[in-house]
Amino acid sequence: MERVTVELAPPYDVLVGDGALAEAGSLVAGRRKVAIVSQAGVADFHAPTVTTALHAAGVDADVFLIDDGEDAKTLATVDDLCRRLADWGLLRGDAVLALGGGVVGDTAGFVAAVYHRGVAVVQAPTTLLAQVDAAIGGKTAVNLPQGKNLVGAFHQPIGVLADARTLATLPPREFRAGLGEVAKYALMPEGAAVATIVRNEADGVLARDAEVLTRLVAASVAVKARIVGADPEERTGIRATLNYGHTLAHALETVGGYELLHGEAVAVGLVFADALAGALERVDTATMDDHRALLCSLDLPTEVPGEPDPVQLLEVMQRDKKASGGLTFVLPQRQGDGIVLDAVHDPDTRALDAAFAAVGVRS
Ligand SMILES: NC(=O)c1ccc[n+]([C@@H]2O[C@H](COP(=O)([O-])OP(=O)(O)OC[C@H]3O[C@@H](n4cnc5c(N)ncnc54)[C@H](O)[C@@H]3O)[C@@H](O)[C@H]2O)c1
Repeated sequence: MERVTVELAPPYDVLVGDGALAEAGSLVAGRRKVAIVSQAGVADFHAPTVTTALHAAGVDADVFLIDDGEDAKTLATVDDLCRRLADWGLLRGDAVLALGGGVVGDTAGFVAAVYHRGVAVVQAPTTLLAQVDAAIGGKTAVNLPQGKNLVGAFHQPIGVLADARTLATLPPREFRAGLGEVAKYALMPEGAAVATIVRNEADGVLARDAEVLTRLVAASVAVKARIVGADPEERTGIRATLNYGHTLAHALETVGGYELLHGEAVAVGLVFADALAGALERVDTATMDDHRALLCSLDLPTEVPGEPDPVQLLEVMQRDKKASGGLTFVLPQRQGDGIVLDAVHDPDTRALDAAFAAVGVRS
């Protein structure tokens, strides 16, 4: 088991590895009740481990299921969940444990942020994406018909339990989508340890070797923890570097119809960002080729399937809620032997055309 500390006030630990879920009891020992929020497809496999650990610690625990998919991340689910927790008698000193992927983590995390004006939450992420990204950093939110994640709060967990065993039951595409975020860390200036594992042990990663995944997740979590610790509420621009590859990815998800999961869209978005950086002479061809090879080694897509309309994608990118007006991209820049990331606003049309061409989108 590996332990990564997120240095916030108060700090909290992310336990990564085989058997992390069994540590749930020690994390909430002394509390009266813990509501395990999950989904049927996750709870069937993994809730018994958590329930057993909580009962062994003398904690009253029950499972509260929510529906599957992005459509379940709504205020209606929050309302329903809060009522069920109130009926069960969950009080201010009790806790919520989110057992699932990012949908469960975001929804249960938001419920924990607002129920009784805030109760403790333990994040127990069961997808690769949630283990390396969604469960770390305290962002919680649900969707409105007007847009994704529009109602939310920062609510840091008291601890995160990322159990490698849960990844064994993850559907193959969901696993691959998580690798998109892992690849992003590998290509970030802070991600050398992630890159080393990917470059040397891609076969073990793809075979979901528990020992390799434990090191990979811990190294990825360490990158996110460091960035979140430096800019917890996205105020200084440091946390914004986590959006590397995300401007095009969000647009592909919004425009829809390209059948890409979030992490797959991020992989394509990384190729797009690199090509944009190349056209702006921030990185050389060798860097772009090296990054693309790393994505391919993880079996990730590097082109947009189908024939999307670049004009529509540009319009959506301009409306991106993280853009402060105009087009904003987090792009790599070669600096000495390494790479740094920073925001670039409104690149010229020639550079955008080159970036679209690199991911198979013709103007
Ligand atoms: N809060 C953040 O910082 C943050 C960051 C990134 C993404 N997100 C959010 O995360 C969500 C996406 O999360 P996701 O990719 O984890 O998808 P998800 O939560 O929808 O999970 C994907 C599917 O896998 C199933 N599943 C989960 N764990 C499983 C397991 N161990 N075994 C079998 N099946 C399992 C789920 O039931 C679901 O059907 C989005 O809503 C996104 O907005 C949040």
